[in-house]
Amino acid sequence: MKTLTGLDNFSDLVYNFHIKPRRCGVKLLFIADVVGKTGLDAVCRMLPGLIGKYSPDLTVINGENVARGNGILPDEAERLRYAGADVVTLGNHAFRQTKVYDFLDDCPWLIRPANDPPAAHGKGVASVDTPKGKACVISLAGQIGLEPVDNPFYCADRILKSLDPAPDFIFVDFHAEATSEKRALGYYLDGRVDAVFGTHTHVQTADEQILPKGTGYITDAGMTGAADSVLGVRTDRSINLFLTREYSPFEQAEGRAMLNGVFFDSDDSVITRINLKD
Ligand code: FE2
Repeated sequence: MKTLTGLDNFSDLVYNFHIKPRRCGVKLLFIADVVGKTGLDAVCRMLPGLIGKYSPDLTVINGENVARGNGILPDEAERLRYAGADVVTLGNHAFRQTKVYDFLDDCPWLIRPANDPPAAHGKGVASVDTPKGKACVISLAGQIGLEPVDNPFYCADRILKSLDPAPDFIFVDFHAEATSEKRALGYYLDGRVDAVFGTHTHVQTADEQILPKGTGYITDAGMTGAADSVLGVRTDRSINLFLTREYSPFEQAEGRAMLNGVFFDSDDSVITRINLKD
């Protein structure tokens, strides 16, 4: 058995493939987990202004909580696309709405985690022709505290190895609960992909950074939905669960909205958090 003395040695020994030069210049705009009608309406209202401000080459939106009862319906995905999304990513609620299954199978821009079971509907990787070159968007889910999925680290390796020719820009939406797992994957993919943004926990973290080998990273991009809510859910429903353990379906909150996101300029290596409120 090999003695591993550090991450660099580990990478060099085993996974030193697909290290590619950065700075193809793609500007990425990412909108964090959109929750319910409040979030969807906020995207439709605020995204055009953000696109005007940042002039992104690639716009990605996580939409796994748009539908009532979580997940996403085809017409809701189409609204995100019409609002400006090149790719819509999902997460642990990807299959909550049965009406989206056929759409997932056919749609090239709506993706679920690539490490979901092989027989799951849809696909986990999307390809986009941007003005700066070919971009690849990869959705991955974490293993800690969520439904069982394949190991995201090895899954990322397999996907990167399969990309031939290598795209000019690679973005990973890592939909995961644990900050440790997210930061570990960020460093694991540093220098091999252009950006790794975490999603799922719905609270924007303040650790946006350029990792040592050039990858743009944030542990969680946040949430787009009702500002006065518990992660997008009605506060009374959430409090009642903690007080009584009574089951009642979570209901997405309404009211004034907030939009969270991240802008990453891969040319200038600048990463900026976005936090708008009504
Ligand atoms: Fe989630």
